[in-house]
Amino acid sequence: MEKTVQLIYEGKTYEFPLITGSEGEKAIDIGSLRKQTGLVTLDPGYANTGSCLSAITFMDGEKGILRYRGIPIEELAEKSSFVETSFLLINGHLPSREELKNFSVMLNDQSLVHEDMKVFFQNFPRASHPMGTLSSMVTALRSFYPELQNVEEELNMTVTRLLSKVRTMATMSYKFTRGHTIVYPRPDLSYCANFLNMMFNSPVKPYVIDDDVKKALEVFWILHADHEQNCSTSTVRMVGSGQANFYASISAGMSALWGPLHGGANQAVIEMLAQLHREKGSVKQIVARAKDKNDPFRLMGFGHRVYKTYDPRAKIIKVLGDKLLDKLAVSDPLLDLAVELEAVALSDDYFIDHNLYPNVDFYSGIVLRAIGIPTNMFTVMFAIGRLPGWIAQWKEGFDDPKGKLNRPRQIYTGNNEMHYIPIDQR
Ligand code: CMC
Repeated sequence: MEKTVQLIYEGKTYEFPLITGSEGEKAIDIGSLRKQTGLVTLDPGYANTGSCLSAITFMDGEKGILRYRGIPIEELAEKSSFVETSFLLINGHLPSREELKNFSVMLNDQSLVHEDMKVFFQNFPRASHPMGTLSSMVTALRSFYPELQNVEEELNMTVTRLLSKVRTMATMSYKFTRGHTIVYPRPDLSYCANFLNMMFNSPVKPYVIDDDVKKALEVFWILHADHEQNCSTSTVRMVGSGQANFYASISAGMSALWGPLHGGANQAVIEMLAQLHREKGSVKQIVARAKDKNDPFRLMGFGHRVYKTYDPRAKIIKVLGDKLLDKLAVSDPLLDLAVELEAVALSDDYFIDHNLYPNVDFYSGIVLRAIGIPTNMFTVMFAIGRLPGWIAQWKEGFDDPKGKLNRPRQIYTGNNEMHYIPIDQR
């Protein structure tokens, strides 16, 4: 028998189906709420709202669990590659050898960007933020490639094209802002190695790819590959629900990611630490500021909407960062500050009572700095990593036969009806 939840409103009892997810999480299906009762729900920030059924990523914020298609993030970070994890997220299963090879061949075949697009990069002001350039270029791809028909083969081609070209476009924007010649992708290099080569190789200074740096990038991207219905992913699904084209939907997600409360936090963390270092401020001072309700300042890289314990991604990236800095013999004063800040915050009653722990962005900037990525490209790195997740989530919405236009309601609090007053009588 279907389980239901009862709502008593103005003396009348209404029943709504109780939905249970595969990990036992429960939800009230209020699809008929307005029809039955005339009521809508109010949930600012959607903290209590499930916007869809999804079989892609599972998170348990209380226990600090993250799994892609059922596989724990710890296992993927240790054993998988970014390309394999992307396949897993997009297609729902780990690839066979053959499938992985075909996917890699397609990624290689699609890695060039139309030469006519170079002029766009050339004409952005040099100081443009790379997130703005990248999201514009993703939208522009729609003009270079035909409208997607609902054909499996074409869909695969389109998603692979975007996965591959985003990486090339990110490095092109970097080279153009520096006024350097672009480096083309190479067929003999893996996805991550190719990125490093396109970013850092130069005709006058060949770049030698270090296996540990490549592995660090691989893990960084795996950790960011999906995170269920976060702000940017919900944006991708929202825009996709209106049947806007694929590129426009992903580009909208990129713009959402840019914000400092979301993907922009990795840049904001380093800027916060750098400012602290520059001004020789104390960690205690900024912790005090973060606690002061009259000060809008927040400790960047701390807190999460879902995780109320240590972010499992932060644990992995912290270890990775320590190893990488050791290996590269980098001494980073910002890392020392980060360690001190973490210790002070984690033993502070405010942070304990509010369940505020370091999130992935707290340590990811340290890893990206060690690799040599400029600070203003940190969020672009997050975007490349999140792309398979956005694609998988967009595809899940696209394939859903019951998919609907996403369109929340509101509770209107403005003026009641009033009449227009001509300008000379106001
Ligand atoms: N520093 C100080 N206080 C904080 C912080 C912080 N970083 N984060 C939350 N709080 C406090 C907040 O002031 C509030 O206190 P009170 O209840 O006393 O008024 C309480 O904790 C709950 O805050 P909230 O804003 O209602 O919580 P939220 O779930 O909406 O916020 C968040 C989540 C990530 C926006 C927030 O923790 C934040 O602004 N963190 C800093 C930015 C950051 O690191 N973002 C990256 C998130 S992880 C990457 C990603 O997945 O996008």
